[in-house]
Amino acid sequence: MRVLGIETTCDETAAAVVQLRPDGSGDILSNEVMSQIAEHAAYGGVVPEIAARAHIDIIDRLVERALFHAGVRLDELDAIAAAAGPGLIGGVIVGLTTAKALALAARKPFIAVNHLEAHALTARLTDAIEFPYFLLLVSGGHTQLVAVKGVGDYVRLGSTVDDAIGEAFDKVAKMLGLPYPGGPQVERHADNGNPLRFNLPRPMFGRPKADFSLSGLKTAVRLEAEKIAPLTATDVADLCASFQAAVVDTVVDRSRAGLKLFRERIGQAPQAMVVAGGVAANSGIRRALTRFCGETGLRFVMPPPALCTDNGAMIAWAGIERLSLGLIDDMTFAARPRWPLDADADAAHHGKA
Ligand code: KG4
Ligand code: ZN
Repeated sequence: MRVLGIETTCDETAAAVVQLRPDGSGDILSNEVMSQIAEHAAYGGVVPEIAARAHIDIIDRLVERALFHAGVRLDELDAIAAAAGPGLIGGVIVGLTTAKALALAARKPFIAVNHLEAHALTARLTDAIEFPYFLLLVSGGHTQLVAVKGVGDYVRLGSTVDDAIGEAFDKVAKMLGLPYPGGPQVERHADNGNPLRFNLPRPMFGRPKADFSLSGLKTAVRLEAEKIAPLTATDVADLCASFQAAVVDTVVDRSRAGLKLFRERIGQAPQAMVVAGGVAANSGIRRALTRFCGETGLRFVMPPPALCTDNGAMIAWAGIERLSLGLIDDMTFAARPRWPLDADADAAHHGKA
């Protein structure tokens, strides 16, 4: 089984071909990603209109390249999948329409993929792990602890009450004068900094509910920075290191609370703990969760950083998972700017599709 996956929900245009392996994992035949960092850099963040236009400019060539590098013709695919949300509506429409057009032309099934589900299932692409598993999903727009019970079967155990972790990284970077995107910049400066210099809060620490809060921490960084302005390179590095240390402590503490909820609510032990989403590329978080899982005796699966940040392979893989279950979509499937993973939240907020 071979599926083409297209991703255009934010500031990466991506296309990939993935093939199902006999052992149940995925073989990435090609994985093309074009970042729009240069287009957005001057604005310090993603500008939706610019993103949509940049996706249009590159998507055709990128799909051609993904097929070429995979050595696969359009008619040799089993389906064409695209992220249908959640994300910036203009960009999502570009990827979705491209996938529908290709599917119609090649007479192949079309699959609308939830971008968050694609992040959530990436650990099965890389490691063929079994359900259920305990997932920390941390990206620019989302911060959630989730019990993944099956494809389309998610129980949210906790989430952020304000900013997403990636958003907090990006905002802290911006206030320290570091370029967009902020996450990797903060990590790089943190490597040279003193994590103990600033005593920053660990919001929600010790609470039994597995929720996150980031805005107080972000404000604390701003107040410390204002106190010692103008900032030297050492100040910036120390602020980054202290901020990242607070995030890492919070992630471990909230994961501990989430794991307890998993054991109470899911009635089955998790097969593994999995991290997903762009922030899962952060090596401080990866190290701390490796230690945490070692202590709790839980298998830890972290996809390589390039499969944690947005990519086409995860969309193709989610397409394979859905096609394996006979889950295909029709051409009326519309782009969804919001699309929660768990059906309850979906029904409560938006009605079910
Ligand atoms: O999943 P993703 O690529 O896009 C979304 O779906 O949001 O996540 C992007 C987020 C951004 O906020 C970015 O700053 C953050 O992930 N990020 C990182 C790192 N690499 C990317 N945050 C911390 N450390 C990193 N190394
Ligand atoms: Zn993402």
